[in-house]
Amino acid sequence: MRHTWLADAVVYEIYPQSFADSNADGIGDLRGVIERLDYLAWLGVNTIWFNPCFDSPFLDAGYDVADYLRIAPRYGTNDDLVELVVAARERGIRILLDLVAGHTSVEHDWFREEAERTSPDPLGDRYVWALDPPLRDTSGDLAGTASWVPSPGARPGYYLRNFYDQQPALNFGWTHLPADEPWRDPVDAPGPQRNRQTLRDVMAFWLDKGVAGFRVDMAFSLVKDDPGHVQTMVLWREMRAWLDAHYPDAVIVPEGAEPRLGEPLAFNADFFLVIGAEHASLFNDHSAGILPWNERLTPFFHAQGGGGFIAFEEAWDAAHADEPGRLVLMATADHDFNRLRCGSRTMEQLGSTLAFLLTWGTVPSIYFGDEIGMRYLPDLPDVEGAICNPTYNRAGCRTPMQWDDRPNAGFSSAAPELLYLPIDPDPDRPTVAAQRSDPDSTLHLVRDLLALRASTPALRAGPSTRVINADYPLAYLRGESHLVVINPTQDSMALTVPEALGARLLLGRGAGLHDDVVALEPFAFEILELPR
Ligand code: GLC
Ligand code: CA
Repeated sequence: MRHTWLADAVVYEIYPQSFADSNADGIGDLRGVIERLDYLAWLGVNTIWFNPCFDSPFLDAGYDVADYLRIAPRYGTNDDLVELVVAARERGIRILLDLVAGHTSVEHDWFREEAERTSPDPLGDRYVWALDPPLRDTSGDLAGTASWVPSPGARPGYYLRNFYDQQPALNFGWTHLPADEPWRDPVDAPGPQRNRQTLRDVMAFWLDKGVAGFRVDMAFSLVKDDPGHVQTMVLWREMRAWLDAHYPDAVIVPEGAEPRLGEPLAFNADFFLVIGAEHASLFNDHSAGILPWNERLTPFFHAQGGGGFIAFEEAWDAAHADEPGRLVLMATADHDFNRLRCGSRTMEQLGSTLAFLLTWGTVPSIYFGDEIGMRYLPDLPDVEGAICNPTYNRAGCRTPMQWDDRPNAGFSSAAPELLYLPIDPDPDRPTVAAQRSDPDSTLHLVRDLLALRASTPALRAGPSTRVINADYPLAYLRGESHLVVINPTQDSMALTVPEALGARLLLGRGAGLHDDVVALEPFAFEILELPR
């Protein structure tokens, strides 16, 4: 089954607490999004991916779900979500929710009840409990490493956490079943099967309300001790088959790339994770020191040049090796790491970067605010997401959307101290309103690129992408009919492209075609239609 709409999707990631606050409590909400749908339609996006918006104590920004079937009251009601789905559809926009499949909050009723049981649930435990698990020193662990936490209730022993301690792992069973760890359930035991059924129920609940599918959080964390994710992928293939039978138009997209275990693939696309080497080799600027690794890599999109395109190209080719039409989502940035503009990056650089992201053969995902070049705010204390583990500092990429020059940048009419995260204090911070009235702005560039993409099928995700110069300036053909040439650096340069003779300029900045020579000013790009 092909879910053809995904190939033409332009995703916009909304971190709900930071987008638009409609009721002046300092936190973004669904009504705020409804009020901004016209803006998103104007911009040209057609799919919204919401970070989790379910009931939660928000110890991990909502990735700690307390009730999968209820919109968090601070965001609104289930009816608001339905209203949003309908209003978005009227504007040609679909809604993806974030499905936190591998763990809940410690405040979920399932966990509370199980933590008070003195013996296993006869229907099967939803969580993983052990009296004497193999404890080890976890103080140096990065978040996301499963480990054991003492039971908070009458239940003796420990529970397994998935990410932070407050995120107990749901029991989807184990691949290896050593005799001395009898508490490990096989994947077909009642508890794991019960959780699989619940996953289907949760998906059906929201699909019946009109959502278009899910981004699946930590999709590969489900079955434990599962080398190569073999059993986890069996599970997701089962989910995909169920979706195909009941909701054939729905899509599921994993947080990262799907492991290749032969056909059929379970997910409708891969996601080149912002922290992944493939994405980092292009844009990495972890100068904020959010995470310790790959910090010193020179990315390809760097003012001084000096980066390589090959690592990305190899990852791209690998993702398409067994399925040439495989869709890959690629984000400008996301809620976990950084923003597209960060460190010493300047606004001028953004144009060439966005031109790449919106014309390469991916399904692009624009992190809210990247369309105006919002920055990562360094040194911002974390609010909803590092309290339990100081290795992360994610507040800097989560500050509220900057709409206009009203108080709080138009995000909220609450008193500034009520905002759950502060607005970028820079007096020159970019805003939607200012950029809307400036045809040369980053915002208009994004809009122009998306409009071109919409009217030019060769520039969308489906058609081929063939690199003809994997160096500076970068040049590639889309659908063998369109040429994109990009200069990510601060130096002027030129490239001779024989195919370009007689080509027609569709969109560009700071570039020109003279016979078969594309001349590019710093950070320039050009998109050309080749003569037939
Ligand atoms: C994913 C999310 C991240 C969250 C984690 C645990 O990595 O993107 O925000 O903290 O999963 O659910
Ligand atoms: Ca609000």
